Amino acid sequence: MEINEKTRWDRKHSERLHSSFDPNTFLVTAYDEFVSSKPPGVALDLAGGAGRHAIWLAERGWHVKLVDISEVGLRQAEENARQRTITGSIVTKVQDLNTEKDLGREQYDLVVVFSFLQRELFPALRMSLKPGGHLIYKTYTMDQLNFNSGPRNPVFLLQPNELLHAFSSMRVLHYHETIHEKGVAELIARK
Ligand SMILES: C[S@@+](CC[C@H](N)C(=O)[O-])C[C@H]1O[C@@H](n2cnc3c(N)ncnc32)[C@H](O)[C@@H]1O
Repeated sequence: MEINEKTRWDRKHSERLHSSFDPNTFLVTAYDEFVSSKPPGVALDLAGGAGRHAIWLAERGWHVKLVDISEVGLRQAEENARQRTITGSIVTKVQDLNTEKDLGREQYDLVVVFSFLQRELFPALRMSLKPGGHLIYKTYTMDQLNFNSGPRNPVFLLQPNELLHAFSSMRVLHYHETIHEKGVAELIARK
């Protein structure tokens, strides 16, 4: 029997009940350098799973929309948020981004995407940002195939410079590809 994407991710999130909720260090450094001087606003955490980034932002006063295909992941995020001191807010939405690609127009001051790739969403991501809003994006590249973990399917792996070109109509403040130990690309761009 073929297992659909939602079931697969629900299972993965169920198995990760005790995983770390620390944010990716790139979010912390990117935020400190480029975003922290602005007052907290409205943010989108795309495919944010158990919410480690949404929670980190909400602890800093942001009002975060957390979307993901997995209800299990989003329930974990809600539970975890209840144990933290949230000064902003988090709303969760179950959304299959393969079929429901609308992210709204000029709604967000900040969009964060970590370890998720759906190329067809690039235009929607740009559109969802307010003018002056920031995009912080980090995910795997084809170079990850040289290592033993991470996605194997090229559909989920960026080509060299792909993220840079995808958001070149915005002001790219930082772009970096790592090829040692991990194959990842990092981007910070302002609309
Ligand atoms: C590797 S996890 C990353 C989660 C989170 N961004 C983080 O860094 O902690 C990938 C996430 O993408 C979600 N996902 C996978 N396919 C999706 C889809 N079609 N629509 C929405 N979310 C999806 C999964 O449920 C999972 O939470």
